Amino acid sequence: MSENAEDKAVDIPAQTEDATTLTKGVAPGETLLKVTGLQKHFPIKKGLLQRQVGAVRAVDGIDFEVRSGETLGVVGESGCGKSTMGRLITRLLEPTAGKVEFEGKDITHLGVGGMRPLRRDVQMIFQDPYSSLNPRHTIGTIVGAPFKLQGVQPEGGIKKEVQRLLSVVGLNPEHYNRYPHEFSGGQRQRIGIARALALNPKLVVADEPVSALDVSIQAQVVNLLDDLQQELGLTYVIIAHDLSVVRHVSDRIAVMYLGKIVELADRDALYRAPMHPYTKALMSAVPIPDPRRKSAKSERILLQGDVPSPISPPSGCRFHTRCWKATEICRTTEPKLVELKPGQQVACHHPENFEDQAPQDTVLLTAAKEAAELVADEVLAESAQTSAAVAQEVAAEAPAEDDGEAPSEETSEETSQEISKDK
Ligand SMILES: Nc1ncnc2c1ncn2[C@@H]1O[C@H](COP(=O)(O)OP(=O)(O)OP(=O)(O)O)[C@@H](O)[C@H]1O
Ligand code: SF4
Ligand SMILES: [Mg+2]
Repeated sequence: MSENAEDKAVDIPAQTEDATTLTKGVAPGETLLKVTGLQKHFPIKKGLLQRQVGAVRAVDGIDFEVRSGETLGVVGESGCGKSTMGRLITRLLEPTAGKVEFEGKDITHLGVGGMRPLRRDVQMIFQDPYSSLNPRHTIGTIVGAPFKLQGVQPEGGIKKEVQRLLSVVGLNPEHYNRYPHEFSGGQRQRIGIARALALNPKLVVADEPVSALDVSIQAQVVNLLDDLQQELGLTYVIIAHDLSVVRHVSDRIAVMYLGKIVELADRDALYRAPMHPYTKALMSAVPIPDPRRKSAKSERILLQGDVPSPISPPSGCRFHTRCWKATEICRTTEPKLVELKPGQQVACHHPENFEDQAPQDTVLLTAAKEAAELVADEVLAESAQTSAAVAQEVAAEAPAEDDGEAPSEETSEETSQEISKDK
């Protein structure tokens, strides 16, 4: 059985007989899924009476949209709420608050009956191809299950359609009667993909689709997802730890930290000029395969400590306990996710590669001084230079009478001096 995804043709899935869709559909590039103020708090209960004593704020108020035909990558450290977000938008979890709209229709609180047609349009691929397939069922039964669950009779029968789907994902259709344990990890993930594609979905949410696989197999599965998107016009939300995977597959990328989206931008803009310090730190951990960038290693930003608990997240900006730029305003005031550059939204008072949003606030918090010790000098210098350059640009553009508000060069220098002085 070949693991190679590139040497096979991908066919458009046959239309199912009663393929009634939830809504009439949206054109490529238009909003397919829209999320507003989405929250999921898991209650923590204690004692005999199981009283609620707190909550895990896994997803704590996020807004974003997914456009038809695009791939939105979602990254962030372990525990920041990526999987919970995936389960909320596929409605496998009930949100605590907020709204989810699919093709303009509010699906936030649809019941089982209301969700039925949507189950065809929105599918999920899970991280672990070992535990997500029932070991007692043949792959024919597994891939054919969605047809039975939805009462759909494909043209030519379920067996024929399942065999066609198996060949679409690069598996041998003759292996219809085999069991999951007879397949490798990569092949099992292909079975999961075939199952997700069975009902010709519009949106596929893939939660760490390759992280359980051997590195040599990861590229094949990523390429398969890519090919399928081209051929079938699928829209993806791909959740991953691995920034190089996300970079390869995504059109836009959302960076999550402790239940919040801290930056959301076009892929190229995000890699070229990240604006949130956390994004910058994540990016710096990705090895750069460019021998000309000899100093790449020393530019790594080491973050202090673990991600704080989502039970009682830090006040203000949740990243302020680990950020080397944090000042008082970061501790007290939560920065809103705003579009600072076209197509680049960021939630930060002192963004990188952009004009300071709180230039009056220059004194670093003690935690920031400690964090700055783990940041390479090159990064701090570069950051200070960019702020100075941006401040100059802004000053040059500002009208003469506008004297108090625009960040001055002096302020930026002050900040950089503060960092170097305290280091
Ligand atoms: N069913 C649940 N009950 C209580 N807490 C939960 C539940 N599911 C997730 N959590 C908590 O919510 C937070 C976010 O979890 P989630 O699985 O969404 O993170 P993640 O970003 O996907 O992490 P990873 O990268 O490790 O998969 C974690 O602190 C987790 O412990
Ligand atoms: S500078 Fe402030 S607002 Fe920006 S990430 Fe750091 S702590 Fe958060
Ligand atoms: Mg997860």
